[in-house]
Amino acid sequence: AMAGPARSLKLNFNAVAKNIADMVTVPVGYTATVLYRLGDPINASTPEYRNDGTDSAESFAFRAGDHHDGMHYFGLRGRDDSDGSSSNRGLLVMNHEAITPSYLHPTGQTISGSGSSAMRTVPNEVIKEFHAHGVSVIEVRKNRSTYEYRGDSAYNRRITTLTDIVLSGPAARSPMMITAYSKDGSRTRGTVNNCANGYTPWGTYLACEENWAGYFRRLSTDDANRTAKELASFRRYGVSGNGRELWATATASSSDDTIFSRWNAMKLGSSSNGSDDFRNVANTYGWNVEIDPFNPKATPKKRTAMGRFAHEGAWLGPVVPGRPLVWYMGCDSRNEYIYKYVSDVGWDPRDADRGMAAGDKYLDHGTLYVARFNADGSGNWIPLLFGHGGITPANPAYAFGDQADVLINARLAADAAGATKMDRPEWGAVNPVNGEVYMTLTNSNSASRTLASTDAANPRFYNDPKGPGGTAQRGNPNGHIIRWAEQGGNVAATSFKWDVFLFGARAGMDRNINVSNLTSANDFSRPDGLWFARSGLLWIQTDDGAYTDVTNCMMLAAVPGRVGDGGAKTIVNTDGATTKSVTTYVGAEPGESKLRRFLVGPKECEITGIAETPDGRALFVNIQHPGEDTRPNYTDPSSYGSHWPDGGGSRPRSATIVITKNDGGTIGAEGNAGG
Ligand code: FEO
Ligand code: CA
Ligand code: CA
Ligand code: CA
Repeated sequence: AMAGPARSLKLNFNAVAKNIADMVTVPVGYTATVLYRLGDPINASTPEYRNDGTDSAESFAFRAGDHHDGMHYFGLRGRDDSDGSSSNRGLLVMNHEAITPSYLHPTGQTISGSGSSAMRTVPNEVIKEFHAHGVSVIEVRKNRSTYEYRGDSAYNRRITTLTDIVLSGPAARSPMMITAYSKDGSRTRGTVNNCANGYTPWGTYLACEENWAGYFRRLSTDDANRTAKELASFRRYGVSGNGRELWATATASSSDDTIFSRWNAMKLGSSSNGSDDFRNVANTYGWNVEIDPFNPKATPKKRTAMGRFAHEGAWLGPVVPGRPLVWYMGCDSRNEYIYKYVSDVGWDPRDADRGMAAGDKYLDHGTLYVARFNADGSGNWIPLLFGHGGITPANPAYAFGDQADVLINARLAADAAGATKMDRPEWGAVNPVNGEVYMTLTNSNSASRTLASTDAANPRFYNDPKGPGGTAQRGNPNGHIIRWAEQGGNVAATSFKWDVFLFGARAGMDRNINVSNLTSANDFSRPDGLWFARSGLLWIQTDDGAYTDVTNCMMLAAVPGRVGDGGAKTIVNTDGATTKSVTTYVGAEPGESKLRRFLVGPKECEITGIAETPDGRALFVNIQHPGEDTRPNYTDPSSYGSHWPDGGGSRPRSATIVITKNDGGTIGAEGNAGG
């Protein structure tokens, strides 16, 4: 049940200063400990990571992947850790979104040729990269004042781009899902670019597929072989080009060659037996993948009822017995949409121990909605249903065939529904105190958010003379955080009320830009990760923040108010020649008592992924891709962009850290915003 009104939640640390040190900086009185790094072994027979690029491809099936991202802590006393009894031992489940190839192989990727002739010539490098993507399940336990992971736990598991996965829900077994791997469209192989995440009330994890489209190879020669519908879909999702990492170009005679050719989404038709026919393979990616961390033998399932897009994550709303369950979701690209999924049936607490069978009940039968934000501060959820509101075979942009087609092409259905184009939706978070939903809109550029297209929910267009990377950028380079309250507190409501909680900006900027009146203790740019502690404390993480010449990416703690606590505000935008005033709705200015910088990461990293133990005394945070921007000179380790976390001349590694308070207290704040 929901907690009562706010009491006294107070930040318990002094703000950390912006800095560009190659280390994790936390407040005085706190300790950050490295827990789980790229390459760390997860079984007893895998050797320690050498971190010089020579660790074998096969060994990576039992090592931490790269680019740690979204994560969740499941207490090991049972699936329901809400009683706080399981803070000493749990399962940490996390995504490995992508790779930094420079540091994964001896001297980077081996590639011959260039452009559309570029080829990966060392298949083992590609196999290593397959394993370095995906998900980790690791057991962690308290050890004195901090935590460690168990290298030999039977729960430890990797899910990768090679794992067999079931397609479940309304789009499974559609003719649009048939591939050489699954002639009835009921399965696919692997998951990729798992960005943020979600969890369920029955103790399972959701790994969300974000920038999957870029991994597929589909050259322009394929266009002539495809239908108008297929081309409209490929264009809307960006399935074209050589394929990031060039996986489809690798070949091997000694192993199953389709592990490479499945990344080729072209209609090949060159083999007589159809073994190379992966024309539909891209339709089997772009979903939320349910994983049962408590059952290592359970096959993961892609839950197609939740729609296919560039999923950032899926955030569970308030769980009330008898009421439907809701997950809020964002599609992270410029001018994309915010969605929610509402289960058909109400929550039955007896399902808490049913694992993936509960997933079949709540995640395969429900309604996908997309959000429209109105100029008067109200909003609407529009259902994406075949046959309704322009989502029909007669639609001029895309002739929808059935509900499977609607879910596979959710972006096109949302276009037809007239949803609001947002400035890149990233993470969401649901306030445990009052059920209000927050979502980061990380940034937009002047091509996608023009002065003319500013609206109440995406209200800023400005020139930041010293934006991300220290260079001038126009549009909304610093991003903002929107929030909404469902009508009547009902998760299945079709209308809501919204405002903008915070605007990213550099302290000292014009108040039409620094709308939230940020100071040097709490200024930030490009909000991305977002997470509510059980106390009602909100954590904000940044990706490629502005002023990377003066600060690395960071994490801040906020004590939020509620939707509507700041009122209407008119922002005056200018491109230098023309001005446009936009009336929006803003949260109360936080001030330094309610918003402070808690952490700054090492060089060239992103701070993303956060989980806490039920007692609120340990916070797990992911440090993603330190040193990724600098191209290394392998004969001179001092040229590496970062040496975090191992120091010396080492290659940088993405890693999970655990943060504890030296006096054993709760992280970030004392007290509670609820009862
Ligand atoms: Fe993977 Fe939108 O961040
Ligand atoms: Ca992100
Ligand atoms: Ca981002
Ligand atoms: Ca990143």
